[in-house]
Amino acid sequence: MRSLRIEGASGRSTIMVGEPLERLDSHCDATRKVIITDKSVRALYGALFPPWEVIEIGIGERSKTLATVNSIYEAFLRHKVDRSSFVVAVGGGLVCDVAGYAASTYLRGLRFGFVPTTLLAQVDASVGGKNGVNFKGYKNLVGTFTQPQFVLCDFALLKTLPEPELKNGFAEVIKTAVVGDAQLFSFLEATWKGALSLEPDVIERIIYDCLALKCRIVSLDEKEKGERRKLNFGHTVGHALEKVNHLRHGEAVSLGMVAAARLSARRGLLSRNDAGRIEALLSKFELPVRTHMDANLVRDALRRDKKRENEEIHFVLLDGIGNARVMPIGIHELDEALNDLR
Ligand code: GLY
Repeated sequence: MRSLRIEGASGRSTIMVGEPLERLDSHCDATRKVIITDKSVRALYGALFPPWEVIEIGIGERSKTLATVNSIYEAFLRHKVDRSSFVVAVGGGLVCDVAGYAASTYLRGLRFGFVPTTLLAQVDASVGGKNGVNFKGYKNLVGTFTQPQFVLCDFALLKTLPEPELKNGFAEVIKTAVVGDAQLFSFLEATWKGALSLEPDVIERIIYDCLALKCRIVSLDEKEKGERRKLNFGHTVGHALEKVNHLRHGEAVSLGMVAAARLSARRGLLSRNDAGRIEALLSKFELPVRTHMDANLVRDALRRDKKRENEEIHFVLLDGIGNARVMPIGIHELDEALNDLR
């Protein structure tokens, strides 16, 4: 097991990379401990859970609501959760986001940790301190920045992931490499087959390198005022497409990255060759690089982006592979980016 740290104003977080779920109990020193999970994860791994109370929440983006948070508060009350209790979310990004929000608001903040069970959650969604729920059609509109006390990353949990979920996670892996780690990008180009078949040495290096970069960036800029915005590469167009075309997050981010890479090339920041390498790598992981869309609907969704300030948006472009920069760009300029996806 190797560990990484985030030192944030909202708390410290230890990321245990390669630690088995079976050792969860040894990392929580409380008399009352509660797991928040969902039905699928419980069916697969419930036998490995320590003997704590379990709260189940619903599956899918439709459960990422204040109503679900309400049901968690009610369960906290039933289980007599108090300030000395410890809450652990075991599940994908959705479970971690919702449970993190419930734990960081109940009694003005309980101690909590995460055991992410998907690749997407292990490399991205469980780490960084942002939590929250959707509201009135806006993604992650309500939430807090609160660091989980720990994130326990057990690679063995990835073995039961359906293939589309695995590919979904590789979109965030590729994003991380593209914005800040050119060596990891080359490693992915060389080892994509081993990565997709979860070869232990390959997957360990990939997850560790992604987490190392994320921890570095979040420690520098926890509240996303500058450096951290680079991690949103591909997400502006991606979120709009996710909503309008009902794609998986990773598929939408893949398309968003293609659009942003092409826009970067058009502006002379990124070579055409490097933009092509990004598309080629996404294709190797069977992520989409072209799509049909109703451009008007996508434009409408872009206008609802919460990162928008008046008619501009903080958009992440590339100066090269492994080198991102954030620039304000006009929303109308995103039309060019959308055209590139057809
Ligand atoms: N919870 C994900 C992040 O903070 O980036």
